Amino acid sequence: MFCRSSARSSASRSHDVLVRSYEPLTAASRALWERALGSLPGGNTRTTIFHDPYPVYVARGAGCRVWDADGVERIDFISNYTSLILGHCHPRVVEAVQSQAARLMSVAAPNELEIGLAERIRERLPSVDLIRFTNSGTEATMLSLRAARAFTGREKIAVFAGGYHGSHDYAACIPGDTGVAPGGPGIPAAVADSIVVAPFDDREGTLAALEPHLGELAAVIVEPVLGAGGVVPATAGFLAFLRELTRDAGALLVFDEVISFRIGYHGAQGRLGVTPDLTTLGKIIGGGLPVGALGGRADVMELFDPRRDDRIGHGGTFNANPLTMAAGLATLDELTPERYDRLEALAQELEAAVSERTGVSATAVGSLFRIDLPDPARLPDLHVDLLANGILMTPRGMGCLSTPMTSVEVDAFVEALASAAP
Ligand SMILES: Cc1ncc(COP(=O)(O)O)c(C=O)c1O
Repeated sequence: MFCRSSARSSASRSHDVLVRSYEPLTAASRALWERALGSLPGGNTRTTIFHDPYPVYVARGAGCRVWDADGVERIDFISNYTSLILGHCHPRVVEAVQSQAARLMSVAAPNELEIGLAERIRERLPSVDLIRFTNSGTEATMLSLRAARAFTGREKIAVFAGGYHGSHDYAACIPGDTGVAPGGPGIPAAVADSIVVAPFDDREGTLAALEPHLGELAAVIVEPVLGAGGVVPATAGFLAFLRELTRDAGALLVFDEVISFRIGYHGAQGRLGVTPDLTTLGKIIGGGLPVGALGGRADVMELFDPRRDDRIGHGGTFNANPLTMAAGLATLDELTPERYDRLEALAQELEAAVSERTGVSATAVGSLFRIDLPDPARLPDLHVDLLANGILMTPRGMGCLSTPMTSVEVDAFVEALASAAP
């Protein structure tokens, strides 16, 4: 069943009113959050999933649907921030994880599954000669920057305003929204000082920001499609410009495809036709379990070869753990080119239907989409209203599709949006 708020939204609807329609539906979540306040700061252990007044606690998922602690059903249009491209508890993934769990969960030795997942990824990304697995996208981007600094003997890293690369010091320097200066509580000045921020998808602005630093630049890291920053694709021309700029400067070009790998069988790099030196991955390649990966040019990745005296050390008790590798293999094997085509067609259907049937617009990129409101400051209200209308997505208007979805879920989304959109 879908829970619909009794009152319809309107432009004048205040946040307090929205919260009043949300609270009666979410009493059990509220109780859990209040209990969590006793043990977790703000009741939270993942900044990116907190929202005002408190988040819903999800108890169960199946396909593209989730059920919260109050038993309320919602359609999941964010799929653990884009990770669950096959939806929740896909039978093939569950079977792979269950049988692997009964055989071997983790061990201080390599396992065959990691070779298989590495091969699947290399098949899809010709730019990846060699690959290392990590447990998160955060670790993957951190490692990519270390590799670039080791390879070039330089220290500076260029990032883009609005980009997101996880929560290590170099990435946490980057404020989420606009091009403000690097830095943040607890971040050493030396780290912040080694970051140069450039404007996304703006050649002239990027050249102006980077030119004074070109001789010191180890890497430029960029999301080919800004994910958390609002599902904004870079133009192929901008990425080609970065390719040339980094090559001429002797710096490495890192594509952070932690999210954008889901936009096509060959990732964003395949769609846009630009080849990076290094690629970071995460999310879908773990089939719903914790994962990250760094892959790229053999001459850079060979720095991790443990047989070298001057190797980059990269330990990790759970790197390439068999459960994640099994879930990732099952997931990539389900993701045929035809499935990507179908997901993209459904996203196009959503984009068109939102524009036709609601007062706002949607932009789809592969299986990702964003909702644009005339006043973006109202996105958090929209999010709460959608939660009260049977839809789970993000407070910033970012959404994605998963393979169990059909036109039925797209229709339900558009209907909820039409009633909720200010
Ligand atoms: C583009 C990008 N890079 C890196 C990360 C960090 O990945 P993780 O949350 O697995 O550490 C994210 C997470 O959303 C991301 O969107």
